[in-house]
Amino acid sequence: MAVTTVYSFLRLAAFFVFALNVSFSTAVKHEGFKTCDQSGFCKRNRAFADAVASSSTTSPYRISPESATFANGQFRATVLKTIADGLTVHLPLNVTFLKSGLARVTLDEERRRTGDIELRHGSKARKERYNESPAWALVGGLDIDFSAQLGEHGNSDVTAIRYGDNQRNEAFIRHDPFSIYFQRDGETQVTFNQRGFLNIEHWRPKVEVEVEEGVEKPVTAEDESTWWEESFGGNTDTKPKGPESVALDVSFPGYEHVFGIPEHTGPLSLRETRGGSQDAFTDPYRMYNSDVFEYELNSPMTLYGSIPFMQAHRKGSSVGILWLNAAETWVDITKKKGTKSKVDTDTHWISESGILDVFVFLGPRPEDLTKALGDLTGQTQLPQTFSIGYHQCRWNYMSDEEVKEVDAKFDRHGIPYDVIWLDLEYTDDRKYFTVDSDKFHNPAAMHAQLDERHRKLVTLIDPHIKNTANYPVVDQLKEKDLTIKNKDGVTYEGWCWPGSSHWIDCFDPKARAWWKTLFKPDFFKFSTYNTYIWNDMNEPSVFNGPETTMPKDNLHHGDWEHRDVHNINGMTFVNATYHALLDRKPGKPIRPFVLTRSFYAGSQRLGAMWTGDNLAEWGHLEASLPMILSLNIAGMPSSGADVGGFFGTPSSELLTRWFQAGAFYPFFRAHAHIDTRRREPYVAGPPYTGIMAQAIRLRYQLLPVWYTAYHEASVDNSPILRPQYYVHPEDEAGFSMDDQFYVGSTGLLSKPVTKEGAATVDVYFADDEIYYDYFDYTIYSKKGFRTVDAPLDKIPLFARGGHIIPRKDRPRRSSHLMQWDPITLVIFLGKSGDAEGTLYVDDGETFDYQSGAQIFSKFVFDGVSSTLTSQDIAPKGSLTDSYRKTMAPVRVEKVIIIGAPAHWADKKHISAEQGKEKMQPKLQFHPASGNKAAWAVVRDPKVSIAKEWKIRFA
Ligand SMILES: *[C@@H]1O[C@H](CO)[C@@H](O)[C@H](O)[C@H]1NC(C)=O
Ligand SMILES: *[C@@H]1O[C@H](CO)[C@@H](O)[C@H](O)[C@H]1NC(C)=O
Repeated sequence: MAVTTVYSFLRLAAFFVFALNVSFSTAVKHEGFKTCDQSGFCKRNRAFADAVASSSTTSPYRISPESATFANGQFRATVLKTIADGLTVHLPLNVTFLKSGLARVTLDEERRRTGDIELRHGSKARKERYNESPAWALVGGLDIDFSAQLGEHGNSDVTAIRYGDNQRNEAFIRHDPFSIYFQRDGETQVTFNQRGFLNIEHWRPKVEVEVEEGVEKPVTAEDESTWWEESFGGNTDTKPKGPESVALDVSFPGYEHVFGIPEHTGPLSLRETRGGSQDAFTDPYRMYNSDVFEYELNSPMTLYGSIPFMQAHRKGSSVGILWLNAAETWVDITKKKGTKSKVDTDTHWISESGILDVFVFLGPRPEDLTKALGDLTGQTQLPQTFSIGYHQCRWNYMSDEEVKEVDAKFDRHGIPYDVIWLDLEYTDDRKYFTVDSDKFHNPAAMHAQLDERHRKLVTLIDPHIKNTANYPVVDQLKEKDLTIKNKDGVTYEGWCWPGSSHWIDCFDPKARAWWKTLFKPDFFKFSTYNTYIWNDMNEPSVFNGPETTMPKDNLHHGDWEHRDVHNINGMTFVNATYHALLDRKPGKPIRPFVLTRSFYAGSQRLGAMWTGDNLAEWGHLEASLPMILSLNIAGMPSSGADVGGFFGTPSSELLTRWFQAGAFYPFFRAHAHIDTRRREPYVAGPPYTGIMAQAIRLRYQLLPVWYTAYHEASVDNSPILRPQYYVHPEDEAGFSMDDQFYVGSTGLLSKPVTKEGAATVDVYFADDEIYYDYFDYTIYSKKGFRTVDAPLDKIPLFARGGHIIPRKDRPRRSSHLMQWDPITLVIFLGKSGDAEGTLYVDDGETFDYQSGAQIFSKFVFDGVSSTLTSQDIAPKGSLTDSYRKTMAPVRVEKVIIIGAPAHWADKKHISAEQGKEKMQPKLQFHPASGNKAAWAVVRDPKVSIAKEWKIRFA
């Protein structure tokens, strides 16, 4: 939720309305957020880049030759920055080569590192450049490649180092001026400081110039106006450390497309931000986690979360970088004609503070990048099964009676759902961990009804804690001194939903430990073990703060300035909640579910995110797809947008189309603003309700597909939704497509309708493989665009030949009730007559899968022998056998073969076997008709999913 209309304001203190200068139009308040020009360090670095580009001066950075060493997979040296008067600044450089084939470059500043500086205003802040981002964002992948070795280079000014798989990668470190070129297979893929934009703003004392009457200020070469203090929107940043930005140009020669750096609303293939083509932006892409009210489409403006990972792609190669910095960051992108009529993409990364810390990925396949990023920042949490079902949310269900009523209506209309949500208003006066007992008279009865139907409750808990009397949570927070502090080291006070508030500082281990105590059911009395948590407003949103967030000179645990940790802050809060849920129940731990709005690289380990406060407009439905795809390829696959749009009231058509699209979001939740008309899927009536119900049922039918895709993401962080370029990395025509996508590795291709009144969509098929309409088996077998019918009741969904997908076809009220349901396998035969697929199953709740309590099967249909086999590919553990026993009754009840060979028409029975059991199930053949494929059904082959089996069609 964000700050919004008059209605909600009336309920806040009157002076607060005044302070916010609220707008009533539905448009983002540009004046509330900085442009590059208004952000001192961004402006300075753009100006620096322009000066370098327009002059013949070379970069003032060089490696001091005597300092350079290479040993044990690491190149170390001191980079000297020449400043005025022949003085130099010392910048320790590490270039570390990792076993994963990645290279890591860090550049620090000697004087700040050793604390040999003075802060202004008597600040208590740490003097070093912030270097703890890795501690929060990274979990591994840092093993050093000790076999990296010096290579040959004719120029003694260049150190060459070969590394990675078969030493196919090579880094060329030029000493003067300092730059690095990264090659793979002898070809340059990524360059650092090729354009000379490297800029480490070194520490310097402020020279106070006394302004005398009639005497002119001394003229300095640099514009100092934003070095020492900056004001924006009535807030002043005291900047006790002075200017300290880090910036670097990174080029991708021969790469026309770059993707990533979520969260933004523009296209998946990132646009130019300076000069360039007509649709170029004028500002760089910005990453500064913010509560952006009524955000606009097609914009490089910052949003709620950031992942500073960028991938560059061309035919045959994907490479990328992770810019590990948690401060406000801007990225300029320009493209130019390179050699051999190829396009080069040049980028310019600018962060306000911290050390320079960059990982270089040389691919070459898109999945090599996602895997390496997962090894560094962690894998996607394997969620509980319920959380991949459908979620019903609204600001707000106002009472326990209302929750029960909504719950009952879903059942009355035969619409499955798993989770109902309570936004802010369930609390007593916006005090988290309390409940408004005037509205919730009998929570126990409400919980009992939900439990009975195996549904869950999610409630909102935010990081701002109401500053009020008689509220034990705020008393403890202050007593234990666990708050974020202002620049003077005193508990920071600002405004958010509850009015005056304080913020918990989850960088502090003591704060995380205390946070756990609040979730125990004897403290959070409204909750049960079936209550899960939504962390909103964790950028953090501060209504009266600069750019609706915290002052940058606020202080965190360890005396780090908020400026240094801003983009990571929201993740540490979610992490505290995750661990609180993990520990709340005695006995066997249950997987937590936490939804967050703010995120950073690493947040995928902790739960799901959603794209914040969107609008009930067709453009927002359309924009949700590239946004979610961008998150998926940047390591945060568990994502979704508010179905229906948060602000405003969608038409029934828009809502219906949104449910059809939302059924393909990894995280599938409808939500609505408090001022909007009710819009649960049963409200619209015929034909809409029926169509929305069908979309939700399709989601439930495909839960085995979604859970298997989540499993893959939990192993190597692979995207759950995959853009065209990711699945077809050689097909240039698809590189910029972001309105259709594949689900995991299943070959299911979805193209949601996002245009009002559309009755058709143009689907792109990237190759000559057979694609089948998922519902009626119409065949599409030619590469290129095809216009397909998409009336309101039709979801354009296709299956690429060569895949086998698992389904559960019995309609149920919730996912829990499907747990023992039999599986239907659908085989979409490819041109070769073969097909493959996987199914992952576990208890969907505990961590037993880590001890082998899982089923992971690979299905292979071999066209030559006409045999379908189920192979056990699960890792085994102590719980494997007992788990398999409990799962023995779960069987395959049906096998559907699409594209079945015509000669099967004569078959009535086929043979199946599992262990010693031999069966002769019936085969029913349906001949091809028109352009619809032939298909065959095997009914009840009597094979359990718990063990390997075989079905012979020959
Ligand atoms: C550079 O490497 C050295 C030795 O491995 C290490 O002590 C130092 O912390 C590294 N610097 C940075 C900024 O990571
Ligand atoms: C999460 O919390 C755990 C336990 O307190 C801690 O070890 C870890 O560093 C935290 N990670 C993040 C990202 O906050």
